[in-house]
Parts: sequence; structure tokens; C-alpha cells
Amino acid sequence: MDIKHIFVVGAGTMGNGIAQAAAVSGYQVTLMDVSPEQLERARETIAKSTGKLAGKGMISEEQREAALKIELAATLDNVPQADLVIEAATENPEVKLKIFQDLDRLAKPEAILASNTSSISITRIGAATQRPEKVIGMHFMNPVPLMKLVEIIRGLATSEETTTLVFEACRQMGKEPVEAKDSPGFISNRILCPMINEAIFALQEGIGSVEAIDTVMKLGMNHPMGPLALADLVGLDVVLFVMEVLQRDTGDTKYRPAYLLRKMVDAGYLGRKTGKGFYDY
Ligand code: CAA
Repeated sequence: MDIKHIFVVGAGTMGNGIAQAAAVSGYQVTLMDVSPEQLERARETIAKSTGKLAGKGMISEEQREAALKIELAATLDNVPQADLVIEAATENPEVKLKIFQDLDRLAKPEAILASNTSSISITRIGAATQRPEKVIGMHFMNPVPLMKLVEIIRGLATSEETTTLVFEACRQMGKEPVEAKDSPGFISNRILCPMINEAIFALQEGIGSVEAIDTVMKLGMNHPMGPLALADLVGLDVVLFVMEVLQRDTGDTKYRPAYLLRKMVDAGYLGRKTGKGFYDY
């Protein structure tokens, strides 16, 4: 099968970034969200991001125009035309499984159904469909237009053919695919979220201020941004959710979330998306 049309479900930070990366790489793209406000925000974000990238010569004017032509949709009506569907909806297992059941019903039989999940088992998502061999994890990194990596996760039933096609699609998008086992947090979040959580423990215990912790990791370890600034970028709710999955699914208490992380999520301080996290935006 030749992948030509990519349908992205969910127009949040990850969904709009994935749609943009696909459109500038020559794919026909539909971006779907049930919220008209979210779709409008996505349109603005894509226009701003591609404007910036074109201004720096990182993409051509034609590529920018292709991104501005992404079809925005409020329903799954056009799913039957898609060759590859990438789900980037909320990280809630019930919501995701329901979406995959709908996609399985509507998509053409040969279509691949991918999830951008950062922590939910691909085997479990695949088992909710009648085509587990065509279900795969495509875990993009934020901000998608700039980050090279896509973590590829095969469920127990994912076929070789599906994996090969998805590797090719990632490369066509200018990304570097890396395969990880279907295990809690895969590779990226198994390592990243405990590091962020440890930084929050350090803050909670008064070992250093927000600025001190981030500066140590930036200047001392050459990380492009400190772990607390990164938590704000990723979303504190996402970090908490991943830590809870790691703790529950491995049964290892070393993954317990920091109390301060839970408290901030309770307060609605989720980072950049709510205007307040470890920093104010
Ligand atoms: N589109 C286009 N341009 C963008 C952009 C986007 N989406 N996001 C940032 N930029 C631009 C900025 O506007 C800026 O442009 P100017 O220089 O013209 O102002 C430029 O990129 C550089 O940005 P900054 O100066 O703000 O900062 P930076 O040099 O540190 O780069 C960064 C930003 C690429 C985000 C870098 O800090 C970085 O790599 N951070 C780490 C990101 C990371 O770890 N991501 C993974 C998170 S984990 C995840 O996503 C998965 C999960 O499951 C949790």
C-alpha cells in the first residue's frame, strides 16, 4: 500500500504538529477535532509555525502553502479515504479505545491505525480493534515540527508490513524512527518522566529553586531546557499520568509521583497550556 492521505485525530499540541509535519512532507492531510475552538487554534498554530520555519528557510513557500491547505474536520466522515490514521487525542484509555473502535469500523480494511500515545499499551489498543496487525504506536515528540524522533511501538500482533510502512512514512516526514518495546513508558518516558519527577522531588525538598534546578541541568548537562521548564512544555498532567502508569504497570514504588506534582495538577497549574506551571507564561 502507498500512504498518500493521513488523517490525524485530535488537534491539540501533538495533533497539529503531526498534521503540519505530514503536510509539509507532501501528504494529503485531514486534521479532525470535536472542538471547533481547538481546530481554530490549530490553524493559527500551524500558520505561525510554518511562517517561522519558512522565514528561516527551513521549509519552502510551497511547503508552507501545503500546510495551510490541511483539511479541518469536525467528524470522522472522511476517515474511509485515509491510508494512515494517527490518533493524538487525550491520554485517557477509555477515550482512546472508543476512538479506535470507531476508526476500525470506518477506515478502509487496509488502512493503518496508529496512536501517538505516550504510555498506553499498543497491544491493548490493537485488541480493541478487528485489525491488531495494522495497529501501531507512532510516538512523536513536542514540538513536533522541530523534533527528529518518532518512537515506533509494535503491539504483540503488529505486522512486519505495518512496521515497514510506518518507518517509511516517518522518514518521508523527515523524522528518525526508533523502535521501542511495548512496555510502560516505552523508552522515552521510561527515562524522561522519572528525571522530571526527580527534579520536582528536589524542588519539593528545597534542594534548589526552580531556576537553580533548571540551570544545573542546562549548563551542567547541556540539556536544551531544564526539567521543570520541560515539564511545563509537556504538561504536568501528562507527566503525572505517565508516572502513575509506570508505578502501576511495573509495580515498582521508585516511580511514585512527587507530592508537589500531584498538588500542582490539582490546582490546574499544568504548564504552558494553562499559562502557569513552574513558570508563568
Ligand atoms: N514551530 C516552529 N518554530 C518553533 C516551534 C514550532 N513548533 N517551537 C519553537 N520554535 C522556534 C522558536 O520560536 C525559536 O525561534 P527564534 O529563534 O526565531 O525565536 C526557535 O525555535 C528556538 O526556540 P527557543 O529559542 O525558544 O529555544 P531553544 O533553542 O531551546 O529550542 C526547543 C526550543 C527545540 C524546544 C529546545 O529547547 C528543545 O529541544 N527542548 C527539549 C524538548 C524536548 O525534550 N521534547 C520532548 C518532550 S517529551 C515528549 O514530547 C513526549 C512525551 O510523551 C512526554
